[in-house]
Amino acid sequence: MIELRNVTKTYARAHTHAIKDLSFQVNEGEFIYITGHSGAGKSTVLGLILRRILPTSGKVLVAGHDISQIRQSRIPYLRRKIGMVFQDHRLLKNLSALDNVTFALRAIGESEDLEQRSLAMLRQVGLAHKRKAFPMELSLGEQQRVAIARALVTDPPLLLCDEPTGNLDPDTSWEILELLNDINLRGTTILVATHARDLVDQMRRRTLVLRHGLVIRDDESGGFSL
Ligand SMILES: Nc1ncnc2c1ncn2[C@@H]1O[C@H](COP(=O)(O)OP(=O)(O)O)[C@@H](O)[C@H]1O
Ligand SMILES: [Mg+2]
Repeated sequence: MIELRNVTKTYARAHTHAIKDLSFQVNEGEFIYITGHSGAGKSTVLGLILRRILPTSGKVLVAGHDISQIRQSRIPYLRRKIGMVFQDHRLLKNLSALDNVTFALRAIGESEDLEQRSLAMLRQVGLAHKRKAFPMELSLGEQQRVAIARALVTDPPLLLCDEPTGNLDPDTSWEILELLNDINLRGTTILVATHARDLVDQMRRRTLVLRHGLVIRDDESGGFSL
């Protein structure tokens, strides 16, 4: 589903590579953690997949297409296939949980069963009972659940999460990672970038460890294969 082939990314004013000769594949239905210290290149990898960042050299293939070659007019179509969750949930503070999710459907021009579909999605993340609450009235973990619902309501085959537990305490982080696990079991391919190596090690999923833009490990079942 995704393939990076010998990708190097050098930022104009930086002295070193953010990513250096990076190659890996993610198959449909996979769950993969990308870990490494701050500055290791995790967000750059996600940006490359979203085509927010273009590689300095190498290829990024999504569903078999070299995304640096696709027409400008196809970029929104590519992004529509990818759900995104950030560390700061980026919810609209003047909209209820339900309306935040519905907003994502409206944004892509959907007009049918918006509330029903959004509510079903909130139910999947365990928050149907909070549908009328505004972001300020939700805990950080609940806010992140709404953000996950919003990212998934358009039914993208791929979900990218950048430090989704960055603002959360360990127990809540664990719950969010379990939720992502469940979502993956229902078929969504998921990439999670996180520096929280200890948590990741407990999840026993494929883990790519980056250091200074290089893959130093690609472990099929996370820390437990040590
Ligand atoms: N827009 C940018 N301009 C210059 N350097 C950048 C930019 N974005 C990231 N970098 C550098 O690229 C490296 C990797 O960054 P990043 O992918 O954000 O790492 P991570 O997400 O693992 O913390 C870091 O050294 C960072 O300083
Ligand atoms: Mg980052």
